[in-house]
Amino acid sequence: MSDHVRIFDTTLRDGEQSPGASMTLEEKLRIASTLEALNVDVIEAGFAIASNGDFEAINKIAEQSKSAIICSLARAAPGDIERAAEALKPALKPRIHTFIATSPLHMKVKLQMEPSNVLEAIHSSVSKARSLVEDVEWSAEDATRSELDFMCRAVEIAINAGATTINLPDTVGYATPDEYGAMFRNVIERVPNADKAIFSTHCHNDLGLAVANSVAGVIGGARQIECTINGIGERAGNAAMEEVVMALRTRGDILPYETAINAEEITQASRLVSTVTGFTVQNNKAIVGANAFAHESGIHQDGVLKAAETYEIMTPESVGLKKSLLVMGKHSGRHAFADKLKDLGYELGDNAFQECFKRFKALGDRKKNIYDEDIIALVDDEVATALNRIQVVSVSTHSSTKGRAISDLALQIDDENVYTVAYGAGPIDAVFNAIKELTDLSPHLVLFQVHAVTKGTDAQAECTVRLEEDGRLVNGQGAHEDTVTAAARAYVSAANKLFVKRERQAPSAVG
Ligand code: KIV
Ligand code: ZN
Repeated sequence: MSDHVRIFDTTLRDGEQSPGASMTLEEKLRIASTLEALNVDVIEAGFAIASNGDFEAINKIAEQSKSAIICSLARAAPGDIERAAEALKPALKPRIHTFIATSPLHMKVKLQMEPSNVLEAIHSSVSKARSLVEDVEWSAEDATRSELDFMCRAVEIAINAGATTINLPDTVGYATPDEYGAMFRNVIERVPNADKAIFSTHCHNDLGLAVANSVAGVIGGARQIECTINGIGERAGNAAMEEVVMALRTRGDILPYETAINAEEITQASRLVSTVTGFTVQNNKAIVGANAFAHESGIHQDGVLKAAETYEIMTPESVGLKKSLLVMGKHSGRHAFADKLKDLGYELGDNAFQECFKRFKALGDRKKNIYDEDIIALVDDEVATALNRIQVVSVSTHSSTKGRAISDLALQIDDENVYTVAYGAGPIDAVFNAIKELTDLSPHLVLFQVHAVTKGTDAQAECTVRLEEDGRLVNGQGAHEDTVTAAARAYVSAANKLFVKRERQAPSAVG
């Protein structure tokens, strides 16, 4: 058995199913490029039948991708499978991923199907997919609560019908590592044609065991791990890609497996997914948290200065984390700025570069020292919002301890400039009221969060806004040296996503 473990990234499908994590087409294309820079083996780009937005995203990602296998999810239904194949047409390496539940509970309650009908559906769905593409993955949804004998029959049928990858998901995050590893060992041993397919893990994190289970699955014989950047996904999320990859790499002494991932791209991928989704990464998150390589205690600092390996089991550089450097001030020129962007891994088109440079100069007028983090926040904000229908043109507010706050706000909506004055309990409330008035939206504000990008009272603010309308949840982020402007940009970014989401249909629930 080969020791190569394929990395199947599902940030754009299972990850996007996190409440509030919806992404625009442009954002998905940026993430897909980053996934190719990471050198993932498979990108699950969406669920083609779920909405026109998903279809288009899969189609465009298939068009732009140069190396990865591009995959669409499909239920065990001919219409789903045909739609997936249609979306994948431009892909150099297309894969259809079809699934059906195999646990007694799901078959009886959710599918209302007899086990024998589920076996027939497996045969017909995999055969249908295989008649359209060469590369077919079949998943036994809720595998970890399925009966082993039944699952072995299901797997054998799927492989006979042409499945080349067999995924056994822990859909509800219920398994423990020993159990999950043993499931793979048993299935691979008992299914006569198991050698004709690659087995795959897909673990949810409800008990915080998704990464441990994925690794156990590999020890049990799986050679593909399904995971997401930052571990985003349904409920408590999926196995985090950065964690499984670095666990395999760092513990190669007892985990003799290889992935093809360019680990130096991990930090940038994590930042991008966090900016796009508005899900901030917790400080103590493994590999990509702000404190993952920080040493606070004197004893630790002393040890690390003498020899980094005293308290570091991997280097920050190995995951692409560069030291926070004082980069420039307002006198830095266009060339220095372009060099810095290159160094930080950005490739911007002319327009985006000009806009970012303008904002960088404006920031330099207000803030003496500009750090890498400032540039990352500014560029991410600019790139994420540049193509939005609604743009913030100008904001000004007045507030005092004596009365209500007032805001003057100008927006550009579909190329038309609109303007209003609104009141509120404070300046942010006044600005949000003005945006609601101009956009005719009245969503519920679920979350408003501010954090300073760097130290100091002149730091840029990075705001996150989560809005809810008729059960649709969206996140928006905005960064600016003026906190109220950052808040306005975050609210407008979320409002843009709400408009996009209104046009999309919710897919039937899958984990
Ligand atoms: O968690 C799950 O079972 C899934 C399948 C659709 C693969 O996401
Ligand atoms: Zn899942």
